[in-house]
Amino acid sequence: MPEQRIRYAPLRDKICTPAEAAAHITDGNNLFVSGFTAGYPKLIPAELVKRAEAGEKLKVNIFAGASTGDAVDGVLARAGLVGWRRPYMSDRFMRAAINHNEIMFKDDHLSGLSAAVRAGRWGPVDVAVVEVAAVTSRGNLIPTLSVGNTPAYLKMADKIILEVSNVDPPELEGIHDIFMPEDPPWRMPIPIYRTGDRIGKPFMEVDPSRVVAVVYSQEADTCAIFSETDEAALSIAQQLLDFVRHEMKRGRLPKDLPWQSGVGDVANAVLAGFMDDDFFSEVSIYSEVLQDTVLDLIDMGRVRAASGSALTLSEKARERFFRELYRYKEKIVLRSVEISNAPEVIARLGVLAVNTALEIDIYGQVNSTHVMGSQMMNGIGGSGDFERNGAVSFMVTPSTAKNGAISAIVPMVSHVDHSEHSVDVIITEYGLVDTRNLTPRQVAEAVITRCAHPDYRELLWDYYERACRETGGHEPHLLGEVFGFHQRFLETGHMLPDPA
Ligand code: COA
Repeated sequence: MPEQRIRYAPLRDKICTPAEAAAHITDGNNLFVSGFTAGYPKLIPAELVKRAEAGEKLKVNIFAGASTGDAVDGVLARAGLVGWRRPYMSDRFMRAAINHNEIMFKDDHLSGLSAAVRAGRWGPVDVAVVEVAAVTSRGNLIPTLSVGNTPAYLKMADKIILEVSNVDPPELEGIHDIFMPEDPPWRMPIPIYRTGDRIGKPFMEVDPSRVVAVVYSQEADTCAIFSETDEAALSIAQQLLDFVRHEMKRGRLPKDLPWQSGVGDVANAVLAGFMDDDFFSEVSIYSEVLQDTVLDLIDMGRVRAASGSALTLSEKARERFFRELYRYKEKIVLRSVEISNAPEVIARLGVLAVNTALEIDIYGQVNSTHVMGSQMMNGIGGSGDFERNGAVSFMVTPSTAKNGAISAIVPMVSHVDHSEHSVDVIITEYGLVDTRNLTPRQVAEAVITRCAHPDYRELLWDYYERACRETGGHEPHLLGEVFGFHQRFLETGHMLPDPA
């Protein structure tokens, strides 16, 4: 029933076919799409591909909240229709095209992007394509399962195309909290003092006269689901929880600090660890993406409040979520990413930040994005927002990759995303190092002894001891050798595979 989903009558007059809607997009346009793992448009990109296949010259620049599904990133990358892509992505075809230098990509911290778009730093917002669950009687928009940067995109867009989802229930209304801060120099504090605080409106504002087309969609999100948690992830999660419990018992950390858990199996295993741990009987989650485990914890009565910019759920969890939405809505708040990742709020709440690294060096520098220093994996996402501002910043990784062929602990990272000054605690399945009161040399000795895989310890000790002897200094390195360490791994042939 159009009236239930689109309660503002003038927008019902804009209902059209996906092809008619996509006709508003032309070659060279900057296309700003909703989507932050979930909540991306499902229909319009495929129409662009049809036109290109019919011979039209067509290339667009794609700006999203973060990663989207195959219906945006996969479909457009495979067809070669993307000029620029920003920010974070995780589609394997998009990744391959970026690494072949066929798509332009610049990696950014997510917290600052809405403001950059409002300031015009990403160029004109020619067209915004936004998935919504409903349009209110006054023409405002109810997002689906993510908010991302969409409020800023809507504010700046010349033309807006709405994909009204028939899959996500209109009862999602009330789960979102949309607050757009003023931009500098007029910015005031963002008034969030507790994880679950609501400070904005339950809808995204829009000028309906800029909505040029409305289409109905029956397509659900196809978000990536993490694989079964392995032993390394479980060991890391257990060590992390033991450490925090110990710090809390000693009175060095307050008990009620909220948690952020990043992308990857380990971060997910940390949240799962709360299920069997009575010390953490009730937790707050102030994170970026909320996953299935958050629903499990809510079902167990263990969540005080959960705040994020997106809900990335497996199909099964999504069914459960929609069925009992009224119950989950009491605990979950979905915000724009400039609020979920706001450095000010993360620091004020004292978030315990848990993020995954590709590699960590013996002094605590972290590479989260570039395999062997050259190949873009996904992007920095919000990891920098949380690591730099959290009360305690944890960096976790299995000690090896590729079945042990590559050590994740290295003399010097091949690309730097997080520096030793932002990273507090390093954990692999072998051990944990709290770097906060250690000198760089003490960090190196502890990381090699406790975190490195036993197969690589001798190699790392040899490097470190010779660096101390031959170079010396505060953070000894053998600059002529550091990249030889990576060269050894490159020779195993383990670069990111092309999707084909
Ligand atoms: N050298 C070479 N390859 C490596 C590697 C290393 N040091 N470490 C991991 N890899 C490979 C893995 O083998 C795997 O390859 P495959 O896909 O061919 O199997 C791939 O990189 C991904 O590793 P995996 O361990 O499965 O990753 P994950 O799901 O735990 O994610 C990150 C790890 C770092 C990619 C992910 O956390 C990320 O994108 N982080 C940056 C953004 C972020 O932290 N966001 C959260 C903010 S809220």
